[in-house]
Amino acid sequence: MDALECILTRRSVRAYTPEPVTDAEIRTLLEAAMAAPSACNQQPWEFVVVRDRETLAKVGTINPHARMAAKAPLGILVCGDATLEKCPGFWVQDCAAAVENLLLAARAMGLGAVWTAVFPVEERIAGYRALFGVPERVTPMAFLVVGHPAEEQKPAERYNPQRVHRDAW
Ligand SMILES: Cc1cc2nc3c(=O)[nH]c(=O)nc-3n(C[C@H](O)[C@H](O)[C@H](O)COP(=O)(O)O)c2cc1C
Repeated sequence: MDALECILTRRSVRAYTPEPVTDAEIRTLLEAAMAAPSACNQQPWEFVVVRDRETLAKVGTINPHARMAAKAPLGILVCGDATLEKCPGFWVQDCAAAVENLLLAARAMGLGAVWTAVFPVEERIAGYRALFGVPERVTPMAFLVVGHPAEEQKPAERYNPQRVHRDAW
């Protein structure tokens, strides 16, 4: 699949087969995430790779919209460390770029994934911080649930010409 097809056919996948995601696949996902652009090339991201079944089952208590983690082989908590910033204030955008890269890599590799919300919901930030022992200087930003797809999503057509302004608003 070429890059444009990957981008245009990526959808959130929330149902997974029991097949594990291999160490090599996890490495590729994280390489894709860390290939993202970042302000001043500051790369302020940190990742917690989660395969422990009991821990994945607890994620739904922090965010009910992440309950699918209980039946997934893999979760990845994406965090930002503002103390690594060279250009202050950009860490969330940097981490969002890393998240999207990882989601697209998953699609390209035949995996399915969904971005579940953490930042800026304070209770969720605290919940993930406690569950994974994330240090105070680091902020949980998104929790990605990943596996081999057990559902097929049709590509979404979202191009909206009314949102496009040419040369000026
Ligand atoms: C910041 C953000 C937070 C999201 N949080 C959740 C979530 O908690 N649970 C969930 O199932 N999907 C979540 N999603 C996925 C969106 O629901 C999904 O991307 C959107 O409905 C568009 O569908 P698509 O990803 O299939 O194109 C989130 C997406 C983003 C970008």
